[in-house]
Amino acid sequence: MDHRTVSSVIDGRPVADAPGGRIRSTNPARLDEAVAEVALGDAPLLVTAARAARAAQQAWADVPAPVRGRAIAHIGRLVEDNKEPLARLVTREIGKPYAEALGEVQEIIDTCDFFLGEGRRLYGQTVPSEMPDKQLFTFRNPVGTVAVITAGNFPVAVPSWYIVPALLCGNTVVWKPAEYSAASASALHELLCRGGGLPPGVLNVVHADGPQTFAGLEQALDAGLIDKVGFTGSSEVGARIGELTGRHLQSACLELGGKNPMVVTANADIDLAVEGALFGGFGTAGQRCTSLGTVICHESVHDEFLTRFAEATAAAAVGDPFGNVLYGPMLAARFAERFEAYLAWIGPQHKVLGSTGVGRITAANPRAGFVGDPAAGLFYHPTIVDGVRPGDEIFDRETFGPLVGVTTYRTLEQAVELANAPGYGLSSSIYTSDAAEAFRFRRGVSAGMVSVNNSTSGAEAHLPFGGNGKSGNGSRQSGQWVLDQFTRWQALNWDYSGRLQKAQMDVAELMPDREFRL
Ligand code: UN1
Repeated sequence: MDHRTVSSVIDGRPVADAPGGRIRSTNPARLDEAVAEVALGDAPLLVTAARAARAAQQAWADVPAPVRGRAIAHIGRLVEDNKEPLARLVTREIGKPYAEALGEVQEIIDTCDFFLGEGRRLYGQTVPSEMPDKQLFTFRNPVGTVAVITAGNFPVAVPSWYIVPALLCGNTVVWKPAEYSAASASALHELLCRGGGLPPGVLNVVHADGPQTFAGLEQALDAGLIDKVGFTGSSEVGARIGELTGRHLQSACLELGGKNPMVVTANADIDLAVEGALFGGFGTAGQRCTSLGTVICHESVHDEFLTRFAEATAAAAVGDPFGNVLYGPMLAARFAERFEAYLAWIGPQHKVLGSTGVGRITAANPRAGFVGDPAAGLFYHPTIVDGVRPGDEIFDRETFGPLVGVTTYRTLEQAVELANAPGYGLSSSIYTSDAAEAFRFRRGVSAGMVSVNNSTSGAEAHLPFGGNGKSGNGSRQSGQWVLDQFTRWQALNWDYSGRLQKAQMDVAELMPDREFRL
C-alpha cells in the first residue's frame, strides 16, 4: 500500500522542513501500516500561514461571489469524481467503515451543492427608511481570515462545513486538521485547491500538534492576522479557544462534544428504536459528536428494549472497516487509551451487556463473529451499561467510543430532565408515536438538534448543526445559518434628499384619533 508524505502548504508551496517534528499516521485497523509520514509545523509556521491568508484575502474578496460560487461547483464535481479514492483513504486512515466514509464524502458534495448557488444569492436587503428620499441597505461582508481547527472523526466532511462557506463568502483560510487524519486532510486540501482553481494563499493547511497550534493561534490573533476561528473538538479545548477569541472580541464557531440522549417512550416502535440505538451508539465506533450517549427508557418498556438492544448489539459485526461491519477500530491510539479510562467508570451498580467481553478485542478477549484479525488493530467490544444515573461519571460525561448507557424514567418531564442533566446540548432523539410527546420533548430538551423516530446521528448537511451548553456557544454550521459565521452585516443608509434628515427627529407622523370608540 502506498503511503503519502504530508506537509503543510502555505501560499501554494509545500513546507519542506518539520519544525514540530515528524510523525506517522497509521491505519488503526492495521497498526503496522503507515498511511502517511507527516511533517509537523509549529507556532511560528501557523503565524506565517495566517500572514499568507491575510495577504491573499482582499484579492479573493474582490472575486465576484458568483465566480467564487462556480469555484465551489467545480470543487463539488472534483470531489464527486474522486469519491471512492477519498473514502478509501478515510477508511484506511481512521478506520471508519467504507460505507460511512462514502457517506462522509457525500456530505462534502452536498455542502458544495448548497453553497454553489449561494454565490448568486448572498443576499443583502433593501430596507425602507423612515425618511423620504433615503434608502437603507444591508450587505454581507467577509469576516477576513479564518482559522479552522478540526477533529479527525470526520476528517473531510466537517472541515468542508467550515472551509466551503468561508471561501464562498470571500474569506481566506488557515486549516489545522487533526494529526492522525493528516493524509485525508492533505487529499481534501488538494481537491479543494485544484478543484476551485484557488489562488495561492487562499486556503493554507498547517499540520501541527495541539499546543503548537494553540500558541500559534494566540500569536496570530495578537498580531491581528486572524478574524474568526472555527473549532471542532472537545469541550475543554473549545472553552480555551472561546476564552482566547473572547479576549480579541471575537466569537469562535465552536462544535464540541455531546452526551446525546435518546428517549424511548412507552408507545415507541421498539424495533425502530433498537435500530436507531445500534447505529447512533456504535456507528463510527461511537466516535461521532452526535453519537448516542444514554438511552432514557420508559420503565414499562425498559426490559423489552434492553433485551432486544443487547441481542442486536451482540449479533452485530465488528471488525475490518472494509468489510460489512457495524463499526471498525478506534480512530487512533489516543482514543483507545481514553476509552479504556471511560470503561473504568463502570461500577458494581451497573449491568454490562452487548458482547462476549469488555475492553480491547483480542484472542484472549474475543468477540463472537469478529471480521478479520483483532490483534492487527485497535478494536473494542461494544458495551451497553444498564442502570446509569446522574452522578455516575458514565451518565454525566462524554464517553467517546462504543459505549451506551441505559436508564429509566416514569414521566416525560423526568425524561427531559435526565436528557438535559449532563449539561451538553448537541443532538437528541425521541422514539414515540405520540405527536404531543414529540413536541413537548423538543421544547424541553436543551439540544440544538432533535430527531423524532430517528437516531441521534445522521444530520443532513443543510440544516443548522450545532449545540448549546457544553456542546458549543450557540454557533451553527451548515445551510444558510453558517453565513452568519463567515460574514458580517454592514448597514448602509443613503440620503439623496440633499439635506440632513435627522433620524428619529425629522420623521413625519400621522395623527391617530386615540379617543375614538365604537
Ligand atoms: C461530527 O461528529 O462531528 O450528524 C459530525 C452526523 C454527521 C456529522 C457528525 N452528519 O452524525
